[in-house]
Amino acid sequence: STKETFLTMRLTGTKYACGRGGCGACTVMVSKRDPTSQEIRHFSVTTCLVPICSLYGAAVTTVEGVGSMKTRLHPVQERIAKSHGTQCGFCTPGMVMSMYTLLRNHPQPSEEQLLEALGGNLCRCTGYRPILASGKTFCLVSRGLRGHPQSKNDGDRRSSLGTQESQLFVKEEFQPLDPTQELIFPPELLRMTENPEKRTLTFHGERVTWISPGTFKDLLELKAKHPEAPLILGNTSLGPAMRSKGCLHPILLSPARISELNVVSKTNDGLTIGAGCSLAQVKDILAERVSELPEEKTQTYRALLKHLKSLASQQIRNMASLGGHIISRHSYSDLNPILAVGNATLNLTSEGTRRIPLSEHFLAGLASADLKPEEILESVYIPHSQKLALTFRQAQCQQNALPDVNAGMRVLFKEGTDIIEDLSITYGGVGAATVSAHKSCQQLLGRQWDELMLDEACRRLLDEVSLPGWAPGGRVEFKRTLVVSFFFKFYLQVLQELKKLIKPFPVPVSALAFMGSWHVDSHQPLQDPVGRPVMHLSGLKHATGEAEFCDDIPMVDKELCMALVTSTRAYAKIISIDLSEALEIPGVVDVITAKDIPGTNGTEDDKLLAVDEVLCVGQIIFAVVAETDVQAKRAIEKIKITYEELEPIIFTIKDAIKHNSFLCPEKKLEQGNIEEAFEKVDQIVEGEVHVGGQEHFYMETQRVLVIPKTEDKELDIYVSTQDPAHVQKTVSSTLNIPINRITCHVKRVGGGFGGKIGRPAVFGAIAAVGALKTGHPIRLVLDREDDMLITGGRHPLFGKYKVGFMNNGRIKALDIECFINGGCTLDDSELVTEFLILKLENAYKIRNLRFRGRACLTNLPSNTAFRGFGFPQGTLVTESCITAVAAKCGLPPEKVREKNMYRTVDKTIYKQAFNPESLIRCWNECLDASSFHNRRKQVEEFNKKNYWKKRGIAVIPMKFSVGFAATSYHQAAALVHIYTDGSVLVTHGGNELGQGIHTKMLQVASRELKIPMSHLHICETSTAMVPNTIATAASVGADINGKAVQNACQILLKRLEPIIKKNPEGTWEEWVTAFEQRISLSATGYFRGYKAFMDWEKGEGDPFPYYVYGAACSEVEIDCLTGAHKKIRTDIVMDACCSLNPAIDIGQIEGAFIQGMGLYTTEELKYSPEGVLYSRGPDEYKIPTISDVPEEFNVSLLPSSQTPLTIYSSKGLGESGMFLGSSVFFAITDAVAAARKERDIAEDFTVKSPATPEWVRMACADRFTEMVYICPLPLEPPSHPTPWAIFK
Ligand SMILES: Cc1cc2nc3c(=O)[nH]c(=O)nc-3n(C[C@H](O)[C@H](O)[C@H](O)COP(=O)(O)OP(=O)(O)OC[C@H]3O[C@@H](n4cnc5c(N)ncnc54)[C@H](O)[C@@H]3O)c2cc1C
Ligand code: FES
Ligand code: FES
Repeated sequence: STKETFLTMRLTGTKYACGRGGCGACTVMVSKRDPTSQEIRHFSVTTCLVPICSLYGAAVTTVEGVGSMKTRLHPVQERIAKSHGTQCGFCTPGMVMSMYTLLRNHPQPSEEQLLEALGGNLCRCTGYRPILASGKTFCLVSRGLRGHPQSKNDGDRRSSLGTQESQLFVKEEFQPLDPTQELIFPPELLRMTENPEKRTLTFHGERVTWISPGTFKDLLELKAKHPEAPLILGNTSLGPAMRSKGCLHPILLSPARISELNVVSKTNDGLTIGAGCSLAQVKDILAERVSELPEEKTQTYRALLKHLKSLASQQIRNMASLGGHIISRHSYSDLNPILAVGNATLNLTSEGTRRIPLSEHFLAGLASADLKPEEILESVYIPHSQKLALTFRQAQCQQNALPDVNAGMRVLFKEGTDIIEDLSITYGGVGAATVSAHKSCQQLLGRQWDELMLDEACRRLLDEVSLPGWAPGGRVEFKRTLVVSFFFKFYLQVLQELKKLIKPFPVPVSALAFMGSWHVDSHQPLQDPVGRPVMHLSGLKHATGEAEFCDDIPMVDKELCMALVTSTRAYAKIISIDLSEALEIPGVVDVITAKDIPGTNGTEDDKLLAVDEVLCVGQIIFAVVAETDVQAKRAIEKIKITYEELEPIIFTIKDAIKHNSFLCPEKKLEQGNIEEAFEKVDQIVEGEVHVGGQEHFYMETQRVLVIPKTEDKELDIYVSTQDPAHVQKTVSSTLNIPINRITCHVKRVGGGFGGKIGRPAVFGAIAAVGALKTGHPIRLVLDREDDMLITGGRHPLFGKYKVGFMNNGRIKALDIECFINGGCTLDDSELVTEFLILKLENAYKIRNLRFRGRACLTNLPSNTAFRGFGFPQGTLVTESCITAVAAKCGLPPEKVREKNMYRTVDKTIYKQAFNPESLIRCWNECLDASSFHNRRKQVEEFNKKNYWKKRGIAVIPMKFSVGFAATSYHQAAALVHIYTDGSVLVTHGGNELGQGIHTKMLQVASRELKIPMSHLHICETSTAMVPNTIATAASVGADINGKAVQNACQILLKRLEPIIKKNPEGTWEEWVTAFEQRISLSATGYFRGYKAFMDWEKGEGDPFPYYVYGAACSEVEIDCLTGAHKKIRTDIVMDACCSLNPAIDIGQIEGAFIQGMGLYTTEELKYSPEGVLYSRGPDEYKIPTISDVPEEFNVSLLPSSQTPLTIYSSKGLGESGMFLGSSVFFAITDAVAAARKERDIAEDFTVKSPATPEWVRMACADRFTEMVYICPLPLEPPSHPTPWAIFK
C-alpha cells in the first residue's frame, strides 16, 4: 500500500489514525495531468485507501515536500502552528495537506471552500477554531480573526474585563503566500503524459495482481477474460470491504489510464458523464451546467449538487468515481436515489454497447436489470429535468457522515393545475438497497397537492417502505419518521413553489467568528514569557511532520510486530485453542500466552492475558508475533478458539442492578435531613437521566516499542502514555525484573484524554513478554478497530433524582442515585464513582442532599478514566433536575440556577470551605457577554414565528474541582541541567499530550532563570531522568510540575547567586562558568503538594486543592422534522486565574468544550445484542467535525483572585471545559421543550444524552411520529427476536 511505501521511504509525516478514509490524518496531495484538457489537477486524497499501483504517472506531495524546519517552512505550516492550531499534532500534517491542496487550486479561497477542504480532517484536541483561523488568513475576506468580530446578533454587547488582550497571534508577522514558489509538476511525468504508454502494465503482489490496460479495447478484453475481477477506481468502496470484510480479489483491473471513461458531453436534453470521473469532477461539471441552463431544467443537477456537498469528505470525493458509486449500490448512496428519480440511464460496453435505466430493479441488483459480468459502465446519462426534483438527507453530523436516511423526490403537475401527473420517490438507508416507493406514487397520480393527499401519501409510504425492528443499522422508528418527514418537507416546498413563494429552506453558510480575551499584567517585563500566548513548542514540527511519535521511530534491528487476539464472547469458558494453521503462516514467529509470563499476570480480577475464562468481547487472550504486521493479522484470522458460554451475561446498567452485579460498595454523601425536607416543600419531581459512554478517540492509537538490551535484562520502552512510571512498574512485575532495569520514554503522545493512563501498561507488558521470549524488539500498534474494541472509555451513567422545591424555584431537598457501567474489571471505576459523588452538587447550595453512586460490573470492556472523570456525566443529572424544577415552576431555568447557586463563602457537601465569588463573576460575565436576556427574547420571538424550526438557549454554571483526592498524587519532581555553553535542559514528570505542558514548563524556567526560552530545551519524559512520577492527569500536570521546575531553577539560581553578585552586569554565559568553581549546575526540584483526604465514613474531607469556575451560554436551532441541530453561538467565561499561557489555556477550554459537545450530542456507542462493539471507527462513531463548531465562539478568561497553591496563581484547565459542552445539550432540550409546548405535549421528557438527531426528532413528537407508532411494524420473525443494537 501507499502507507507501507511511505514508511519504507522514511516519510513518517503522513499519519494513520483510522485506515478507512474517515479521519483525514493520512491526507497527501496527488497531481495528475488531465489527458484531455492537458491541465495539471491537484487533489487531496487519503493515503490509507490509495493502492500504490494507482499512482502510476502521478506526482505525490507529502507534508515533507511542502516545507520543513531544515529548509523552509510553507506559510500553511507556519500559520497553523503560530495560530495555535496544533495541540498533540497528530492531525496536523493531514490538516496542512488539505489546506495546502486547497491553496494550490485557489490561492485566495472563500471561507466556504476552506470549510469544505477541512471537513474530512478530524482533530480531537483543538476544537478546530484555531485551525480555521489559520486558514482564514489566506481567505479573501477574512472576518473575526483579530478578536473583534462584529456580532451578528442585535443588541449584542462586548464585556470589558480591565486590561484585556485578544490577539493570540499577529497576522502581520506571517510570511506571504507566493504561489510561484510551489513545487512544479515533475517534467519526466509531463513527458510521460505527452507520449502516453499504451501497453498493459501488470503489477504482481503477494496475493493480488493489478492490471492496468492502456486502451479501452484492452480493458474490454481483460474484463471479458476476467469477468469476476472488479474495476478499481477510487477504491473507496472496494478498499474498506477488503479491509474489514476480508474480501480478496486476486485480480484487479485498473482503468485509470482509459480516457474514454472520462468523457463529458452536453446535449440539448441532458448531460453524459464518464463513469471514471471523480465525484469532485462531477460536482464541477454539474455546477457549470447549472450556471448555463434555466433553473427548471436543472432540478436534478441541483439536487445532486446538494448531496455532493455533504457526501463524505473532499478527499473521498476526489478519489471516488461516479461509476464506482453507482455500481457499489450502497443502501446509503446519496446519489442513486436522485439519479433514479431523475431517470438517469447507464451506458454499458462490452463487445457491443447497450443502455439500461438506473431503475429500482437495477438498484436492487436484479440480474435482469444489471450489468453482465463482462460489461463495463462507460458513462451515465442524466437528462435535464422537466419537473420539480428535490432531495433530503439526515446524518448524525452535518459533514463527513454517512446518511441515516436520504431521499430523492420528483413531481410533475398537469399543465396549469396542482393535479399530480407523475410522481417518483426513492429512499436510501432504509433497506439493503435504495428503494423506490413506486406503488405509493402510482396510487397518488391524479390527486391534488393538498393536505388530504399528504396524509394518504404518508400512510402509503410507511406501509410500502417497511423497515423491520431488527433492521441492520437500527434507529427504526427514527428512520420511519424521516420517511414521512422528508415527504412532508417535499410537500411544503412544492406547495410554496406552486404558490410561487420564496424559497423556504435556505442552506446556511457558516461564518465562524471568534473572540478570545485574557488578562496580562501591564508591569510584567516584555522578555518574561509567562502569561503570554507562546506557541506550542512542537507546533512547527507538528506542521512539518518532523515531530516524532512513538510509531515514527525507525525500525530497529531484528524488530518483530505483535498483534492481539481478543475474545469474541462476552462471558465464556475457553475450551480449546487451535494455533496450528496460524503458526504455518509464513513470517509468524511465536504466540505469547499467559503461560509465557514469568512474573504476575495482572491481578486476579484483571488479567493481562485471559486464562481459561473471558469476561467481555475484546478481552486480550494472547498475542501473535510475526515479521510484519500483515502476517501477524493474517495469523489471527486462522486461530480457532472454542468457548462454552457462561451465564448470566450482563451488559446494561439496568441488568446489573437486577443481578446485583457491582464492582465496589456504594459511595454516599449526605447533608441535612432530606426526608424531613421533602415533607415541607411545595412540589416534588422525580426523573431519570441516561448519559451514554464516550470513546477517547485520541488520534494516535495505543502503541509501544519494546527494545530488549543485551545486558542485565535491561529494556528500553517507547510508549504513548500519560503514565510511564505505571508502564515501568507493570512491566517489572510482569517480567519479574527490578524496576531499575526498565526505562520508559515518552517523547509526545498523540492525545490521551485519560485513555492512556492505565491501558498502555497492559500493552507495554504484553509486548515486553514477547520481547523477552523471542529476544527481539517488539512493536505493537493497535489499529483503530482494535483500539476501540479493547480499551473502553467513559462510563455510561444512569441517574435517578427526586427533588423537592418551593414554587419560587428554591430547591430544598435533592436525592440523586447514580449507577455507572464499569465494565468487566474495576480499573478506575471506584474512583470515578467517588469523584462523581463529590462533584455532583456542581455550583449549587442545597441544604438537604443525598448523593449515592455505584459502579456496575458488566460483561463489557472495562471503562476507565476520561477527561472530567465522572463530572460530565453526573452533573448532567443535577442540571437536568434544575431544568425539570424550572419547568414545574414555570420559570426560566437560568432563574432557578441563579436562585440555588452558592453566593457567599460556604462549605461544600463534603464540608470543604470555599469562596464562590469567581463563580458568580463568571456567571454574570457570561450572561452579560452573551447578551443572554436579549437573546432569550429573540429566541422566543423566533419560536413564535416558526413551527418546524425551533431555537433554544441555555446558560450553565460550573464549579469544577481539580486534582486527585489523594495526598500521594500531589507531588512532582523535575531535573534541570545547565550546560557549560549556557543552554539548559529541563526534564520533569509530566508528559506532553498536546496540552502544551512542556511549553508551559519552559515558560516557568525562563521566568525563574531570567533567560530567553531559546536557551531552554525539553527532550522527553523518561523514567530514568525523573523517577516515580504520577500520571499526567486530573488537570494538575502544569500546576505540580511547574512548582517542581520552579524549585529546581531557584536552587540553581541560588547556587549562582555569589557569582552573579560578583559580576552583576555579566551575561548568563559568563555566570554559568561557575562550573569551573566547582558549583553543581544540575538540580532536582521537588514539589510536595497539597494534602488531600476524604473520610467517606464521616462524609468530610479536603479532597481538592482548588476549584475552576466557569459559565457557558449556547444557542442552537433544531429542525423539528429531521432532528438536525445547528450551533449558532457559544460564549464561555472561564476563571483561569493568572493563565500561564492564554493560547494554550483557551485551546484547552475550546478543545474540551467541543469534546463535551460530542459527548452530549453525537458520540454514540452501539453494541450488538451479543456485546460486540459496532461503532469501531469514524464511520460509525461521530466525533465533532469542523462544521460542528458553533458559528460564533467566544472565550474569555476571567482575571481572578490568587490561588497560592499553584504556580504563579494559574489554574489547571485541562478537563473543566468538557462539562460546558452541556450548554449545547441544554440549548437543544430548550428548543425541544419549545416545540413540545407548542404541540401541547408534556414538557418533562426523559433526558437522554447524547441528544442525537434521532433523539431530537423523536422528542419533537408530531403527527408524523404518531403515524409511525400507529402504522405497526411487520411482525418480527421468531429467528430475530432481538433488536439490532443495544446501548450501554
Ligand atoms: C470515508 C467514506 C465516506 C463515505 N461517505 C459517503 C456518503 O456520505 N455518502 C455516500 O453516498 N457514499 C459515501 N461513501 C461511499 C462512496 O461514495 C463510494 O465508496 C464511492 O463512490 C465508490 O467509488 P470508487 O470509485 O471508489 O469505487 P471502487 O471502490 O473503486 O469500486 C467499487 C465497485 O464499483 C465497480 N466499478 C467501478 N467502476 C466501474 C465501471 N466503470 N464499470 C463497472 N463496474 C465498475 C467495481 O468493480 C467495484 O466493484 C463513503 C466512502 C468512504 C470511504
Ligand atoms: S488514516 Fe486514512 S483517513 Fe484515517
Ligand atoms: S491536535 Fe488535532 S488531534 Fe491532536
